[in-house]
Amino acid sequence: MSVVGIDLGFLNCYIAVARSGGIETVANEYSDRCTPACISLGSKTRAIGNAAKSQIVTNTKNTIHGFKKLHGRAFDDPYVQTEKIRLPYELQRMPNGSVGVRVRYLDEERPFATEQIAGMLLAKLKETSENALKKPVADCVISVPSFFTDAERRSVMAAAQVAGLNCLRLMNETTAVALAYGIYKQDLPALEEKPRNVVFVDMGHSAYQVSVCAFNKGKLKVLAAAFDPFLGGKNFDEVLVDYFSEEFRTKYRLNVKENARAVLRLYQECEKLRKLMSANASDLPLNIECFMNDLDVSSKMNRTQFEQLCAPLLARVEPSLRAAMDQAKLQREDIYGIEIVGGATRIPAVKEQISKYFCKDISTTLNADEAVARGCALQCAILSPAFKVREFSITDVVPYSITLRWKSSYEEGTGECEVFSKNHAAPFSKVITFHKKEPFDLEAYYTNPHEVPYPDTRIGRFTIQNVGPQHDGDNSKVKVKVRVNIHGIFSVANASIIEKQSIEGEPNDVPMDTESTCKNQRKEDELDNMQIDQEEGNQKNQADQQSQADEETEQVGAETKTASGDKQDNPAQTAKAKAKVKSIDLPIQASLYRQLGQDIINSYIENEGKMMMQDKLEKERNDAKNAVEEYVYDFRDKLCGVFEKFITEEDSNRLTLMLEDTENWLYEDGEDQPKQVYMDKLHELRKFGQPIQERYMEHEERPKALNDLGKKIQLLMKAVEAFRNKDEKYDHLDPAEIEKVEKCISDAMSWLNTKMNAQNKLGPTQDPVVKVAEILGKSKELDSFCNPIVYKPKPKVEPPSEGQAKANGEHNGPVNGQSGAETKPDPAKDSFQQTKPSGEMEVD
Ligand SMILES: *[C@@H]1O[C@H](CO)[C@@H](O)[C@H](O)[C@H]1NC(C)=O
Ligand SMILES: *[C@@H]1O[C@H](CO)[C@@H](O)[C@H](O)[C@H]1NC(C)=O
Ligand SMILES: *[C@@H]1O[C@H](CO)[C@@H](O)[C@H](O)[C@H]1NC(C)=O
Ligand SMILES: *[C@@H]1O[C@H](CO)[C@@H](O)[C@H](O)[C@H]1NC(C)=O
Ligand SMILES: *[C@@H]1O[C@H](CO)[C@@H](O)[C@H](O)[C@H]1NC(C)=O
Repeated sequence: MSVVGIDLGFLNCYIAVARSGGIETVANEYSDRCTPACISLGSKTRAIGNAAKSQIVTNTKNTIHGFKKLHGRAFDDPYVQTEKIRLPYELQRMPNGSVGVRVRYLDEERPFATEQIAGMLLAKLKETSENALKKPVADCVISVPSFFTDAERRSVMAAAQVAGLNCLRLMNETTAVALAYGIYKQDLPALEEKPRNVVFVDMGHSAYQVSVCAFNKGKLKVLAAAFDPFLGGKNFDEVLVDYFSEEFRTKYRLNVKENARAVLRLYQECEKLRKLMSANASDLPLNIECFMNDLDVSSKMNRTQFEQLCAPLLARVEPSLRAAMDQAKLQREDIYGIEIVGGATRIPAVKEQISKYFCKDISTTLNADEAVARGCALQCAILSPAFKVREFSITDVVPYSITLRWKSSYEEGTGECEVFSKNHAAPFSKVITFHKKEPFDLEAYYTNPHEVPYPDTRIGRFTIQNVGPQHDGDNSKVKVKVRVNIHGIFSVANASIIEKQSIEGEPNDVPMDTESTCKNQRKEDELDNMQIDQEEGNQKNQADQQSQADEETEQVGAETKTASGDKQDNPAQTAKAKAKVKSIDLPIQASLYRQLGQDIINSYIENEGKMMMQDKLEKERNDAKNAVEEYVYDFRDKLCGVFEKFITEEDSNRLTLMLEDTENWLYEDGEDQPKQVYMDKLHELRKFGQPIQERYMEHEERPKALNDLGKKIQLLMKAVEAFRNKDEKYDHLDPAEIEKVEKCISDAMSWLNTKMNAQNKLGPTQDPVVKVAEILGKSKELDSFCNPIVYKPKPKVEPPSEGQAKANGEHNGPVNGQSGAETKPDPAKDSFQQTKPSGEMEVD
């Protein structure tokens, strides 16, 4: 179980994880907590995030950014058509009419669906969180704008699947912010008290969202939400871009808009300038070198001027604030505080508009960039059974009212019912009862097209199958459960037919039905009589579990959560229903608007896997190439440095030449070779380099190894001598054993002498007669044979551990004290180190 929150932004993404008891925003491989929402496709590999951003200007046509609002849209969508003109890369009509991109990847023109592009980005974010958590990640919560319609939400869900993520909830950005605000607050009013109302304002790079939330202890309820989906930092940058393009046209005679690369650079500079202007009211310069036609351009702007240019945008701040407050039916004095997040709320004039509307200072207690990701991670922790989080219930609202429409068998009319009204609580389920003789279609759509920032109001068509008349030819009672699930997605979750088992009880149901019929429905339309039971969504339940909720939970929900009087009858009716009727599940065939088929998603998943493998292989190939390059540079440095005296001049010349050839090769024929070629090249170089490197390493490490062995011999000799002198410390040792030790010591000593003599005769360019490893081996051999005999603890008198300690003390004592012992090859540290270098000198 992983706990990961992902803020999938238009411009940038952030990731928060639960780690060591807290929520933390994590950094990517560039130690950057912000990952640009950018993907660059190349002839061999993909770059995603920071690496891709740097290619926006160089790989213009194949670097995809600003695609968040393409989710779930048709190619012919007016928004897409407008964007198409502005985006530097090409948009493409996908087989089902949705929008995708067309890029050059692996030297081939290829279309990619929006879900694939977003999937690449999400896979990158997944990898970043895996690196941070040091374990595989699947479960997560992903943010979406609160105004996203079903089609857009489902598209993001598909992208998560492509990335191998299991999205537990699509969370509205403003709701995530509200959660990040509320969950740590210790002083929220108690449940029965008046709630604390807080307004959250989020203006990011591409959209502006407002929500009004009511907080009580352990509870967050969204009261209303409003938005301007096309107002954000990007629009302010656009104003600057237009202004400077115009200025450069007259000042330098440049047609900026005709040059995609120039436009992109100007955008980047304007974004920087806008941010600077937020902090500095004086005139600020804008300079771009080699902007177009090798021309450097420069200009300036100040905040006052900027605000004048952006007046139309600034005027759009207030309406959404007003709309949210009106929907929440609150007055300004009911508001406890206003919290702002999102990069564009740093624009002083935006802040001013907000605080002017509320006649109140605004607070910035939340991290403007990271609050959304943190809220998502908190939600993920709440949903995760493996985590214990303070109980916190979240009720969101439905942004757009939803209506169901069906063909009425009565006089061939249509029945219609608004199942969810605007700002209705969500997640939420309702059960609607129909009386039907045959299979029927339910069409779901958004009630008010003008509210929805999306050109199509269709949500989907749901066919309730296998419906037939009762045995007596009467209509069957069909219960249909509709739901706005935890992701904010509408569905017909379940349908069942209630079969009459006996004649009793049936008439009782009929008045019930009429009593709670939908207001839009014609009363006389008895055939389509329907009843709505309501069930509030349970936070802990996940989307799919919800749809499997059985009849029992459903009715419990209806009884407890609905206040209206007629529900009093429900328990009785439930009991009766249980006894007298049989409920049979009905298959539902759903055809969702702009929904990708699972087969398509599966093919995207497979493709993503292939691209990842390609990236991995390419990375390995590059690493192999870099290893050759590194070896060349490193070895060349050392040849005139530490390796110099370990190689003959002739060999050195030969090797230098070889390194030079390899370097040239790397820039010519070796520029682009398979991994194996680089590995072979490195192997070849190593064959020559290795012996030199080894001579050097041996030379560096040999003195210490010899010294250590010498010390050991000396200590053992001292102990043997003490034994011979009847030192009582050793009187428990067996003389026969000691004799063996003496033999072993003298063998080791003569081995050491022979090797040292031989080694001293060799020059540094010759391979050593004795390797460090051999010396260490000899040392070990001596230890394992002699130590158990000589340092055997004394029996009885002292406990063995102390005896051992004493022996060890003995062992260490002489080393420091006695350097001038009488034994011939005196290996004590000081004297040994003197002999060694002089030995080398002789040969030189
Ligand atoms: C604002 O920018 C100007 C011009 O670059 C600079 O001289 C000044 O120090 C800046 N002021 C602040 C407060 O940063
Ligand atoms: C800002 O720019 C305008 C137009 O160039 C100028 O009139 C005004 O004096 C400038 N203000 C400051 C504070 O620099
Ligand atoms: C927020 O998300 C929920 C699902 O978590 C959804 O039901 C609701 O419609 C969304 N609210 C708004 C204001 O968009
Ligand atoms: C539909 O609801 C019935 C009872 O209302 C339940 O037994 C069944 O499991 C549900 N089916 C699905 C697919 O959720
Ligand atoms: C197109 O839509 C149909 C029906 O909705 C679906 O079965 C099919 O998989 C879709 N194909 C593509 C390429 O999206």
